[in-house]
Amino acid sequence: MQNESLTETQSAFGREVYEGLSAFPKYLSSKYFYDATGDKLFQDIMAMPEYYLTDAEFAIFTEHKSHIAELFIADESPFSLFELGAGDGKKTKILLNELVKKKAAFDYRPIDISQNALDSLSDSIQKEIPDVEVNPIQGTYFDTLKDINAATEKRKVILFLGSNIGNLLHPQAIDFLKNLRDSIHPEDSIFMGFDQKKNPQTILDAYNDAKGITAAFNKNILHRINKELGGNFDVDQFLHWEVYDPESGTAKSYLVSKSAQEVRIESLDLEIRLRPWETIHTEISQKYDDEVVNWLAEQADLKISTSFTDKDALYKNYVLKK
Ligand code: AVI
Repeated sequence: MQNESLTETQSAFGREVYEGLSAFPKYLSSKYFYDATGDKLFQDIMAMPEYYLTDAEFAIFTEHKSHIAELFIADESPFSLFELGAGDGKKTKILLNELVKKKAAFDYRPIDISQNALDSLSDSIQKEIPDVEVNPIQGTYFDTLKDINAATEKRKVILFLGSNIGNLLHPQAIDFLKNLRDSIHPEDSIFMGFDQKKNPQTILDAYNDAKGITAAFNKNILHRINKELGGNFDVDQFLHWEVYDPESGTAKSYLVSKSAQEVRIESLDLEIRLRPWETIHTEISQKYDDEVVNWLAEQADLKISTSFTDKDALYKNYVLKK
């Protein structure tokens, strides 16, 4: 009964928190890391030397921009360049500049949950690359995916950068790729970043930085529960803990309770107990190799047409076609 009325009245955030904290073992979804504080912490993570993903993708774009732009331009028919979860567009601007230089007939359609992020992205592109027509779309990329097809008559190139796909378990990633496949035509392309398997220590360092920025990012989900759902988590009573399994390529983030705790979440009418050293699993960041990316693509009935990597092969961008 409790659950039924919750389903009707609570936000998705509340529902998922209720489910995850009532489960054994406990879990929360990393998609709820991102409020204004979480966005800022993620920007800080991307600027950390340990978080090699951003630099590696930036290096790939810088080195291969001409080839990538030619792939997008293809037969020179006009296209819309969609970007799922556009953020600050720092890497994308390299490609936008190159497309303008090559006089490509395209418009840029960044999709982001945050209208604020879209406004500042549009403003900065307007200033820095005024020749680009920007048509922002506000929404989650899961929701807007189905509208992409209806949104334009033009050929489509869809960017999904930053190894964002790595925050999905393989079955969810396959569903996501299947949805993407259903949103495109054979002449369209998907350009996607997949972080690669590498020295496990490099991965652990990227997700457990010395300054504790990633720890603050992980713990932000507890601050959100306190602020938005009336929780009383004592956030200092949790450790950020990262593990990486080099066999599966899965990095996992946990919040570990340092003591026996009782927590009440007012708006969910939920009381939970945590035993000392009990875990709340919060995020996966999957690492890939060609074999796994091929397998994912195959499962979604997509084909890899080409890929680009950096000099240390830390990271790869793949072009997927129907
Ligand atoms: C957004 N996503 C791809 C990041 C990642 O690498 O999993 C989020 C992140 N979590 C900790 N550091 C960065």
